[in-house]
Amino acid sequence: MRTTAITAQPGSAQHRPDSFDVERVRRDFPILQRTINGKPLVYLDNAATGQKPQAVIDTISRYYAAENANIHRGVHRLSVDATAAYEGARAKVQRFIGAARPEEIIFVRSATEAINLVAQAYLRPMLEPGDEVLISTMEHHSNIVPWQIVCEQTGSVLRVVPINDAGEYMFEEYEQLLSSRTRLVAVTHVSNALGTINPVRRIIEVAHQRDIPVLVDGAQAAPHLAIDVKELDCDFYAISGHKMFGPSGIGALYGKYELLDDMPPYQGGGEMILSVSFEGTVYNHVPHKFEAGTPNIAGAIGLGATVDYLQQIGLDNIAAYEHELLDYATEALSGVPDVRLIGTAKHKAAVLSFLVGDIHPHDVGTILDLEGIAVRTGHHCAQPVMQRFGITATARASLALYNTTAEIDALVAGVGKVRKVFG
Ligand code: ALA
Repeated sequence: MRTTAITAQPGSAQHRPDSFDVERVRRDFPILQRTINGKPLVYLDNAATGQKPQAVIDTISRYYAAENANIHRGVHRLSVDATAAYEGARAKVQRFIGAARPEEIIFVRSATEAINLVAQAYLRPMLEPGDEVLISTMEHHSNIVPWQIVCEQTGSVLRVVPINDAGEYMFEEYEQLLSSRTRLVAVTHVSNALGTINPVRRIIEVAHQRDIPVLVDGAQAAPHLAIDVKELDCDFYAISGHKMFGPSGIGALYGKYELLDDMPPYQGGGEMILSVSFEGTVYNHVPHKFEAGTPNIAGAIGLGATVDYLQQIGLDNIAAYEHELLDYATEALSGVPDVRLIGTAKHKAAVLSFLVGDIHPHDVGTILDLEGIAVRTGHHCAQPVMQRFGITATARASLALYNTTAEIDALVAGVGKVRKVFG
């Protein structure tokens, strides 16, 4: 197995490395050795999905090669071990986000499913016609559409906190939009399209002063920032495995125990029951009540390995390194004629959405791809953000712990080529 980028002793969660060695980090990610169109891969599409460290790949392969069995259902050795590994992964995720107990972690297929679960199992039973759900302009579609659906189902109203020209959450407007009918506030921790880091602690505090629960979409935060749900005091927090360098098809919903315990199930099936008869069914306890059917066992165990990997490096180290990269990239890209950055919040994660003159972002992405550079182009599943800025799409470079200043230089040179081709 490859070594990770630090000198931490295994299991020493307190240890923090003195320095962050990006070259050692890069060696943990085999795909970064690839070439694309004869050029070294420059992977700058991390907000879409993160690449996978060897430790995660090995964990998943080992599970399927030597440990595969169904969980919570067998007395045989493989099943007992697989159950222990799956529940161990739940405890790892619990510690990673600072939850009070493992039962507060529900494995789901994605952050999207986590939000849909809360919309249908928590919010829907309490919504009355005229009630309100408060989101913001910068939400990903996955933190808009589930609330639209539940509002349509119940005659409730979706309200939207605006963002300013820098792409920042407008806090005063937020406070004004909170009303006696607001039943839930949903907000992204980090915007996938703009990079804005939202003041979620303050947002939650103000909502709680009015007894309004808050869901935080942490899909874009978990790979980049240390998260502590107890300190945030959020009621729900959603994360996505594949964005944090883990497998796809797995995510987690954090919910405060008493809320989860009170909620009806989201889906019915095996595993979420204590007993079934035609006269009636007794539901299982939290978290199993929300995990109907055979779950993504390998995915959950792979997510546990991801969490181990990130904790060994240290989220604070990752955040500090990415902040340096962001500063470097912002200065470098801003210096290219005709480049316009969309999203210039004071508190930002390392996401650079940009336009190059009036060249279509898809053309920008296509030329960059010829140079081996992967960026996302389009509306980034955040069409209201595009509408806010009067555009239909951007090119987006989203950085992660394994990116380098040399790769930013390659991006800037690539944008120079785009200008030449279309200039
Ligand atoms: N939400 C993902 C992105 O921002 C897919 O690209």
